[in-house]
Amino acid sequence: MAYRLLFVCLGNICRSPSAENIMRHTIDRAGLGDRITCDSAGTSSYHVGNPPDRRMQAAAKTRGIVLEGRSRQFVEEDFDRFDLILAMDSENYRDILSLDRSRQYRDKVRLMCEFCTHHAVKEVPDPYYGGPEGFDRVIDLLLDACEGLLAYLRPQFAQR
Ligand code: 4NP
Repeated sequence: MAYRLLFVCLGNICRSPSAENIMRHTIDRAGLGDRITCDSAGTSSYHVGNPPDRRMQAAAKTRGIVLEGRSRQFVEEDFDRFDLILAMDSENYRDILSLDRSRQYRDKVRLMCEFCTHHAVKEVPDPYYGGPEGFDRVIDLLLDACEGLLAYLRPQFAQR
């Protein structure tokens, strides 16, 4: 079975759909598209069923990335369904872990920016109430983190 990644933010219309689609691109280019799968979710239900935010779509498009998918809320069952859960900021991280009442899934949950190698930041900032530069920043950070995440995962998928 494929290795399953889940990207999580607050609304699942800006940061996590970008992470999902950028990571899918990164994985496909590495020839690992049938080995690693990507999905995303939001800790809130604010935008359930909605497509990615237009401003986020525009920022992604300038880098050649089309954002696909619809918002859904993170649910407890996701802890079992995914191998690694990547939170965009520390609030997302805390909100995810608050649903892990048995504390058996803590090690599956990580902050996305742990995988950045060019940017020394802890979080992918929420761009929702800011200007267009915030959306470009999200893409920059995620391109970096996705490369780092692939480098982290790659040894597991080395050809024998
Ligand atoms: P996201 O951005 O968590 O990156 O999808 C947001 C989307 C919507 C809201 C906040 C952040 N909101 O407050 O509705």
